[in-house]
Amino acid sequence: MDKKISIAIDGPAGAGKSTIARRLAKELGYYYVDTGAIYRTVAYFLDLWGVSPKDIDGVERYIDELTLNIEYDEEGLQHMIMNGMDVTNDIRTPEISQKASLVAAHAVVREMLLDMQRDLAKEYNVVMDGRDIGTVVLPKATVKIFLTASPEVRAQRRTDELIAKGQKANYKQILEQIKQRDYQDTHREIAPLKMARDSIKLDTSELDIEGVLAAMKKIISDKVAL
Ligand code: CDP
Repeated sequence: MDKKISIAIDGPAGAGKSTIARRLAKELGYYYVDTGAIYRTVAYFLDLWGVSPKDIDGVERYIDELTLNIEYDEEGLQHMIMNGMDVTNDIRTPEISQKASLVAAHAVVREMLLDMQRDLAKEYNVVMDGRDIGTVVLPKATVKIFLTASPEVRAQRRTDELIAKGQKANYKQILEQIKQRDYQDTHREIAPLKMARDSIKLDTSELDIEGVLAAMKKIISDKVAL
């Protein structure tokens, strides 16, 4: 089997990873793997069972009951299937964002999801985004990019995103949540959010989506014929 191309994109919440990764995957004809959605699905599942994301015994007891599948529709959009149910739209709430960040700190959860992510990259050309893609999941990724932006810019983006979806959004509260999640994601013992040594950092604070895309394509074209 020929070796597949993998573009690993890591960074904190609201840096623009998913929007950019989705667009990039579409333009390159690769699969977009949103690994955050996988952690969100685990958090959603545990929440349905009333298990606190901090309760490691509860997490260990219930996790075996979860069957997780990723499917792609004809438009290339990723769907999260939890025990046969499509929960793609149910996992995008601020509450599940916080819980996913706590659930993601458990080794048992991360180990369970590792092969699933690696298998996708073995089988397809992928743009994969998350927190530990360049460091843990795909240490040999073809290209590694670390997307970041100031917490204030990221909170504003998240606020605009929620408002555009017709949901309520409070900038100050979102900023606090982002800072809290940054702290949790960078301070956990296992696979914390950090830049891989061979990753290229791109600060998107002053860039719009087109600007970020252009910068990323330039980085990628140094390694891959586009
Ligand atoms: O979209 P957003 O950046 O808000 O979050 P997400 O990418 O959907 O990820 C939700 C949570 O899952 C993060 O706060 C991380 O704690 C966790 N996560 C992780 O630990 N490792 C990944 N590869 C992806 C997400």
